[in-house]
Amino acid sequence: MYAVELESVSLRYDEVVALRDITFKSEAGKMVALIGPNGAGKTSILKMLAGLLRPSSGEVRVLGRDPARARGLITYTPQREDVYWEYPLTVRELVAMGNIRRRGLFKWLNTRDSRVDTALRLVMLEDLASRKISELSGGQQQRAFLARAICQSGEVYLLDEPIAGLDAPSESMLLEILKALRDQGKTIVMATHDISATLEIFDYVALIRNELVAFGPPKEVLTSENLVNTYGGSTVALHLDDLEKVAGWK
Ligand SMILES: Nc1ncnc2c1ncn2[C@@H]1O[C@H](COP(=O)(O)OP(=O)(O)O)[C@@H](O)[C@H]1O
Ligand SMILES: [Mg+2]
Repeated sequence: MYAVELESVSLRYDEVVALRDITFKSEAGKMVALIGPNGAGKTSILKMLAGLLRPSSGEVRVLGRDPARARGLITYTPQREDVYWEYPLTVRELVAMGNIRRRGLFKWLNTRDSRVDTALRLVMLEDLASRKISELSGGQQQRAFLARAICQSGEVYLLDEPIAGLDAPSESMLLEILKALRDQGKTIVMATHDISATLEIFDYVALIRNELVAFGPPKEVLTSENLVNTYGGSTVALHLDDLEKVAGWK
């Protein structure tokens, strides 16, 4: 059984064909990067895996099931732009939302659940637990969302561009936490633009431009030809610089 699986998946929004015939899969305990330009369909794939969207054709499975029937096993962290940051929620309240499925909506807020403390400790936000989420830095906000996912204790973590806009220390802290989760057998699927970050730690990369350009281990997939097919010429020059720096390729 695979942790995540897309089989001949197509998705249209009215007349827009967002994704065409996407097939890839990953066993559990892996980190999978979805890489592609804006509009490539990364968010759409994550939403289908989260059971929030249904494919127009093809099959999406998470841990062998229809994602809509695996919700308790799946945690989904939306793209920054899709979060209403001004909502007056504290870090602890946000993290405790991971308990809603288990404890029910009305008990969620007054709990001093040890799961919340454990999750806060894992992402090193214990000291900021009473802060409003709007008052955190970008990296702290991403860690708060990750803590919510940890609190929910799902098996599959879906993250939409969690490292976009973070400085290098915040990015590596977040990636370290994700690696630790992977090493515990969790599956991470993450949309990102940061190709260099994926080289060293991700098990699989899916290059997407509305179709699947390539899927496999980063070193096999991130060839200049595949990157040109994904991003077009000019952007790639920049990314390849990063690649050579990180991987020592020449
Ligand atoms: N709700 C929607 N209605 C219509 N078109 C959409 C909607 N959401 C996404 N799209 C279109 O689907 C394509 C893929 O979008 P998306 O999955 O958000 O890509 P990415 O996350 O890679 O930027 C884009 O062309 C986008 O404009
Ligand atoms: Mg997106």
